[in-house]
Amino acid sequence: MKRLTTLVLATLTSTVIANTHTFDINVSKTGADIQPTMYGIFLEDINYGADGGLYAEMVKNRSFEFPQSLMGWRAFGKFEVRDDGPFEKNPHYVRLSNPGHPHKHTGIENEGFFGISVKQNKKYRFSVWARCPEGGKSKIEVQLVDNDTMGENQSQAGTSITVEGKEWKKYTAIIDNKHTKNDLSLRLFLRPAERGAGLVTTDLEHVSLFPTDTWKGRENGMRKDIAQALNDLKPGVFRFPGGCIVEGTDLESRYQWKNTIGPVENRPLNENRWHYTFAHRFYPDYYQSYGLGFFEYFLLCEDFGCEALPVLSCGLSCQYQNDIRDEAKVHVALDDLDPYIQDALDLIEFANGDASTTWGKVRADMGHPEPFNLKFLGIGNEQWDYKDNAAYTARLKKFLDVLKKQHPEIKYIGTTGPDSEGEKFDILQPKMKQLKVDLYDEHFYRNEEWFLNGGTRYDKYDRKGPAVFAGEYACHGKGKKWNHFEASLYEAAFMTGFERNADIVHMTTYAPLLAHEKGWQWRPDLIWFNNANCVKTCSYYIQQLYGKYRGDKVLKLTEGKLPVAGQEGQDGLFASACIDETRNAIIIKVANTGDEAQSLNLNFTGKKKDLVFKKLEIITLHTDNMNEENTLENPYLVTPKLELQKPDNMVVVPAKSFQIYVYNR
Ligand code: AHR
Repeated sequence: MKRLTTLVLATLTSTVIANTHTFDINVSKTGADIQPTMYGIFLEDINYGADGGLYAEMVKNRSFEFPQSLMGWRAFGKFEVRDDGPFEKNPHYVRLSNPGHPHKHTGIENEGFFGISVKQNKKYRFSVWARCPEGGKSKIEVQLVDNDTMGENQSQAGTSITVEGKEWKKYTAIIDNKHTKNDLSLRLFLRPAERGAGLVTTDLEHVSLFPTDTWKGRENGMRKDIAQALNDLKPGVFRFPGGCIVEGTDLESRYQWKNTIGPVENRPLNENRWHYTFAHRFYPDYYQSYGLGFFEYFLLCEDFGCEALPVLSCGLSCQYQNDIRDEAKVHVALDDLDPYIQDALDLIEFANGDASTTWGKVRADMGHPEPFNLKFLGIGNEQWDYKDNAAYTARLKKFLDVLKKQHPEIKYIGTTGPDSEGEKFDILQPKMKQLKVDLYDEHFYRNEEWFLNGGTRYDKYDRKGPAVFAGEYACHGKGKKWNHFEASLYEAAFMTGFERNADIVHMTTYAPLLAHEKGWQWRPDLIWFNNANCVKTCSYYIQQLYGKYRGDKVLKLTEGKLPVAGQEGQDGLFASACIDETRNAIIIKVANTGDEAQSLNLNFTGKKKDLVFKKLEIITLHTDNMNEENTLENPYLVTPKLELQKPDNMVVVPAKSFQIYVYNR
């Protein structure tokens, strides 16, 4: 954690302390294993999280496949959009020709995703597929332009390529950029190949611009700052690619993983439902290029050292938008599910098959002969059954019957629907047990009270049922849907219940993960960004702290035999404890959601109670202002602080704070 600074919390000595709470922590008897997958990430292309976000491509509509072929582009001079290009699944391209007078210009200009930002002394890789259809040679002048500049020259940096011959070829050139600039466009001029030569008609397809400095330096790469922020969470599992986009508004727009692999030029465009889902936040230029597709997702999992958890369509399109009575039109009939099940089988082969298998070969041909070692697979996102219609579970059963037989080594994840309680949840939860899914995915975007009252939620769960995957959750403050500290504190409080119940809670992922400040549809979100920078929210730091101090095994922590979960008489305290074998430490997490500081007597019990500790680290996330949030302008307002102390069983947890006590042996 880069921003962790050493700080003596001097103010604590002058704090008024309300009560002393004795927490008994049994250090002799370790409890359940805390799964390595416990704290993970979930990425969906919402809020321009993938295209225009993590995926570092800077050109929007690079293949001219948006329904309006020139959306995001300004074309000038003599141009034509044609549809007999070299890439079968993306057939459109642009033809540039002589505008008829030497003083006139032909070309195209791309606005990027909310503009194009470039950084000082960084290089950018321009590439394009091109040809001169009538033969000959031409030049394409490439400029990064500032249309609003008061300087003489709009061009801020540039390069050029020479296109030659009738065959389509990929051309690449590096732009060596000297100054940091935002809100630029990428302008391409058709020029004569040589001084005095005439203009030669030129076709352009798949126009692309990437920083050379991507995450791991990959050409079809990810934004380094955002990928680094994800990596710094030390996620244990990575759920992708959604969310609602898995289901689609209709079957046609569902996410089909096979469309997202192979050469990027030939990955067919899909709409992104978040372009229109909320009419009050409408983004008509939001599409999925699939440049960040399943291969790239698996690579990221490998980079982050975490398990991959792909989610596939179960044959139901979004149930919020499609009435089940229209089954024939909008959902796949039960008898027609085979291709969907085959997609799941093929995905397992793509991830785990060796290079001699059909889909393993596709992966190997993409540059990854080694298997990805897939262990988890989600079937369906937020689906549900009706009282008189097993819309979801009938489909899920068909998948499980085949998948479990052919791939018993994989853990399968069902869902309890969009709600954390209520009719849909009550119908589905017992059915997940009957169907013997390995885990079920619960979603809860809830307000402050829900989180504060939910401290013992998992203590009450059936221990013999499937394990829990809290796959989407966040505290949505009443009337305050932003990433203020208070929301993150209540998430931290609730998460002590994940840890205490690690015997049945095996995975958790906050949602959504990413949001562009100019293109969001849903908030709060874990990481916000613009084209230049990203900011880690308070909730990010909570997730990061849980990930970093995950521990290996639960230790029982009680106050008067009760779990510390914001219960009566506990003054808004939530706590959990674990043992970290690598650190050789006992770790106690405490969220004080109350208005007063509380004194804690951490009473280690059991045979090994006379433990000798060498040092005590106290990590605190706190701010006096509950509404404070980290912003792109002010990213470090609330960050974790580290204090080193002589080991002492008596500690003080300040009001409205999250603290982690690491007792190192
Ligand atoms: O995270 C945003 C959306 O919330 C997801 O797409 C969906 O699963 C849930 O309704």
